[in-house]
Amino acid sequence: MPMSDEILKQKPKVLIPEVRLQARIAELAQEIGNDYRGHDITAICVLKGSFVFFSDLIRKLDLRCTCEFLGVSSYGNKMVSSGEVKVTLDLNDPIENKHVLVIEDIVDSGLTLSYIMNTLRARKPASLKSCSLLLKPDALKTDIEPDYTGFKIGNEFVVGYGIDFAGKFRGLPFLGYIEHGH
Ligand code: IMP
Ligand code: MG
Repeated sequence: MPMSDEILKQKPKVLIPEVRLQARIAELAQEIGNDYRGHDITAICVLKGSFVFFSDLIRKLDLRCTCEFLGVSSYGNKMVSSGEVKVTLDLNDPIENKHVLVIEDIVDSGLTLSYIMNTLRARKPASLKSCSLLLKPDALKTDIEPDYTGFKIGNEFVVGYGIDFAGKFRGLPFLGYIEHGH
């Protein structure tokens, strides 16, 4: 049986329960709200993994915000970053002179976020920041760190709360992890 089939049969274990996710997201929303006070922002949801986090975060944000969606795909069905980033859906509108906040699910090697930030910076936003629910500091291969981070985690392979393995597990309300042999 291929390794990915065995993984798909596992029941993910809980890494961060729903209540802790929601409590931390409320704190992030406070912090972001304070920093941008008086400004409208363009919040960019990086598809697909961050759609659940994005929708919880923007509903707690006390700011006027325009939502944009950027599709990127960086892994295929593999568990290690290929470093190749493919844009699968571009923004609808220009972001020139806008205050842009990129919302990511995970920063692992950092290659995806750094590609996204460079691409968006070229479009001349008034400001450009990033917020990631998760950061794996030990896996970073670039010097990029999100401006806002929900949780720093180890090198677990996480799923749930919008995050998938091979397209599965996105609907779990908690952040789980799955075990994989090395
Ligand atoms: P990076 O380019 O290595 O930083 O990878 C970032 C992207 O890889 C994230 O936005 C996720 O889509 C995916 N990714 C990284 N780690 C995990 C994980 O533990 N589970 C599922 N997807 C992951
Ligand atoms: Mg992602």
